[in-house]
Amino acid sequence: MSKIATSFPHVAIALDRSSATALYRQLYDHLRNAILSGRLAPGARLPSTRELASELNIARNTVLNTFEQLYAESYLERRVGDGTYVSHQLPDDLLRVNNQQSLRTRPKRTKSNAASFMAVSVANYSGPPRPFRTGTPAFDAFPYKLWGRLLAQRWSNSAGEMLQYSDSAGYLPLRKAIAAYISTTRGVRCVPEQLIITSGSQHALEIVIRTVLKAGDKVWIEDPGFLGARASFIAADARLVAVPVDNEGLNVASGIDRCSDPNLIYVTPSHQYPLGSTLSLSRRLALVKLAARGGAWIIEDDYDSEFRYVGRPLAALQSLDTEQRVIYIGTLSKVLFPSIRIGYIVAPPDLFDGLLSARCLGGHQSPTLDQAVLADFISQGHFARHIRRMRVLYAERQQALVNAAKSELKGLLEITPSDAGMHLLGWLPEHVDDQQAFRKATAAGVEVTPLSAYCIEPPKRGALRLGYTGYKSREIWRATRRLAEALANV
Ligand SMILES: Cc1ncc(COP(=O)(O)O)c(C=O)c1O
Repeated sequence: MSKIATSFPHVAIALDRSSATALYRQLYDHLRNAILSGRLAPGARLPSTRELASELNIARNTVLNTFEQLYAESYLERRVGDGTYVSHQLPDDLLRVNNQQSLRTRPKRTKSNAASFMAVSVANYSGPPRPFRTGTPAFDAFPYKLWGRLLAQRWSNSAGEMLQYSDSAGYLPLRKAIAAYISTTRGVRCVPEQLIITSGSQHALEIVIRTVLKAGDKVWIEDPGFLGARASFIAADARLVAVPVDNEGLNVASGIDRCSDPNLIYVTPSHQYPLGSTLSLSRRLALVKLAARGGAWIIEDDYDSEFRYVGRPLAALQSLDTEQRVIYIGTLSKVLFPSIRIGYIVAPPDLFDGLLSARCLGGHQSPTLDQAVLADFISQGHFARHIRRMRVLYAERQQALVNAAKSELKGLLEITPSDAGMHLLGWLPEHVDDQQAFRKATAAGVEVTPLSAYCIEPPKRGALRLGYTGYKSREIWRATRRLAEALANV
């Protein structure tokens, strides 16, 4: 056992070297419990990793790994050039509930790690979408009548079939239609029998995690990155390795420096979420090689690749993978509408059975009627037409936002156009805190998300994320003016 009292007078840390629990995990539990019980208060400064390692007589890397995990779960925050602090953003109820716990008991968890992470990390949007909520397709341009007609036809022609339990892997005509679509447009190498239909890509992630990941496994995640993925990895008790992103996407060399033998890599190669860069070919090759050599799995989350306005997208990472290490996931949430709750996994052949069992346990199947209508929508050519129409409309809406920003947000927010995606980033002037800008915008009724919410390492410059696809040009202009008024007071 080793003890310290000097760095944290109120947090005794005893590590048991004979325990089967890794030292990193023991230290993590001590610090997390101290934060949740209030013994380490929000804003409290932590000793440096070097000091802590020396006091505990353990390797500095062990402390670094612990801190990385606590950053990733939002318990700690880094201030550039000024050390590590207990996060200010811990939900109050979490702190209150655990205040009375004694030093030795593990705080009762009222929420899972993942739920508390989500509570501190993401704004809770409710009500109808308004500018600039992200992930919102153009509901005003959806072909409602056509969808209704296909639905009615299915209902009257094959209602009996639609009511039964059916294949957990999904409705075969839909699997065929999606396999053909992603082979042609994304270069994905697959046969329909490799596809598993899920309730969206968040569900797909959960299925993959349940199948391939064990507690304590090392997972590379993008920093900044998709919070839903981070929360799912936290819920699975994975060890998170935050890998920086630049204009060539995930920085593979930095990832290798931080952890050269990940068990799983989560990546958004075609349009990095949320920065928007495309993973370069050399990095794609490096990633696939790393996974093949170390036996790691790669989750390729291809969430919005349909919306590229200039040039052709690079083919999916999966198409470069000769060793079957890439698990490709896709969703209909962005390209059609989020409440359809249909996504899919392209399973490497060896993983298919395991993934299918996990899919089955997590709710048996997606509704057959919805799958059948979607299959008809795709196979009758409406899907391709809808994507073409939306591409034109979204390019116009993006241009409206760029024009409005040029006119109204000078000196307040720097928005540059993007070749792809459904949102733009607006960069704040140096030293303007994006959380503060977010609060002002929210108070003015404008929905934006601060870039720092997606980051583990604080961003060098604050930014706001603005979705534009769901809003008419005049709504975009009106909201931009309101945003300008809000930001003028930050
Ligand atoms: C990068 C990314 N992956 C996955 C998802 C989840 O999508 P779904 O609605 O299919 O669960 C989202 C949703 O915003 C996303 O942005």
